[in-house]
Amino acid sequence: PQGRLRDKFGRAITDLRVSVTDRCNYKCVYCRTGNEGAQYTELAIEDYLRMVRVFVSLGIEKIRLTGGEPLLRTGLVEMVSELAKMRTAFLHDGTPAEDGLPLDIALTTNGHLLEGLAAPLKDAGLNRVTVSMDAVDPEIFAAITRVPRSYEKVLAGVRKAQEVGLGPVKVNCVLLHGFNDGEIEKFAEFSRREGVIVRFIEFMPLEEDRSWKPETVVRMDELVDRLNAFRPLVELPPHALSETARRFTFDDGVGEIGIIAPVSRPFCRHCSRVRLTSDGKIRTCLFSQSDHDMYGLMLRGGTDAELSAYVRKVVLRKEERHHIGEPDFEKPSRNMVHIGG
Ligand code: GTP
Ligand code: 5AD
Repeated sequence: PQGRLRDKFGRAITDLRVSVTDRCNYKCVYCRTGNEGAQYTELAIEDYLRMVRVFVSLGIEKIRLTGGEPLLRTGLVEMVSELAKMRTAFLHDGTPAEDGLPLDIALTTNGHLLEGLAAPLKDAGLNRVTVSMDAVDPEIFAAITRVPRSYEKVLAGVRKAQEVGLGPVKVNCVLLHGFNDGEIEKFAEFSRREGVIVRFIEFMPLEEDRSWKPETVVRMDELVDRLNAFRPLVELPPHALSETARRFTFDDGVGEIGIIAPVSRPFCRHCSRVRLTSDGKIRTCLFSQSDHDMYGLMLRGGTDAELSAYVRKVVLRKEERHHIGEPDFEKPSRNMVHIGG
């Protein structure tokens, strides 16, 4: 009777990102210090599914599984099969649905274990996959992930995902000045050669060692100049208002580049996302100063009706926008690996 989930700025919340573990088998230099302990939190797959069902009953249409590294998680394939059985509670225009539509089920992974898991995940009902790759040079790649021969594994994973029909794979690349900004043109060639969508992401202050500096960020304008010098870019129309990336191809229509510019061009105004952390807390923004313990309410015996009222209340408090680069910016107490990408 209350319609689908909205925040107090009128934004419809249709995307849920669920972190299924905060473990990761990589120690990417811009994300982790590499010396944190073995502490991690995971809930039972059933518990995530119960919370997801509540969200879906309120209008979530898209689920993105993240981590940590989600492919480390036991039971992930079974979780995807369960998600594939769920139907949306509303149609895309917001009208309540009798039977609903299938969910859009996506995964963000570092790709290390993807070669073996792509086919089972596809069979279970996964629709799309995004793989993080911060270099196409194998040595730079291994220097970033701090895992030897990681490039070869990830490339095999990307190709397998393309082969089994999870493509076009999106490849996420976080660019850092002085580290991998020499890879830009090579990534453009990679997109054209492999038929993948390469998305460059501006580095955000979510790292563990507080090394973020505005100078390290490779901004959209600089990136566009570099790509145009490689080959003229042509902008593609957005798929949706809430899309994080601006999309481009080249003048011959070969290859696709996305630019995600949370620092120089924030996309908060049309944000449709909320997150569920691996320990069952709702985060209404990557940069939230606090989170909301949905799992705690479940543990105390909360009914589905109580959980759903809780979600509605929490979502009403979603932040208007982040404040990266402004004097009042405060880095959230959790890092990317503990929030979920
Ligand atoms: P699809 O549109 O379903 O492909 O998903 P997506 O564009 O959200 O893709 P993905 O999960 O790969 O997210 C891409 C990157 O955008 C993330 O890795 C983040 O760096 C950034 N991002 C995603 N959500 C947010 C957000 O809510 N706020 C900010 N500031 N950045 C975000
Ligand atoms: N800024 C921007 N993107 C980041 N990612 C991880 N940390 C950051 C950061 N500080 C990216 C990863 C992955 C996705 C989940 O988020 O590279 O592609």
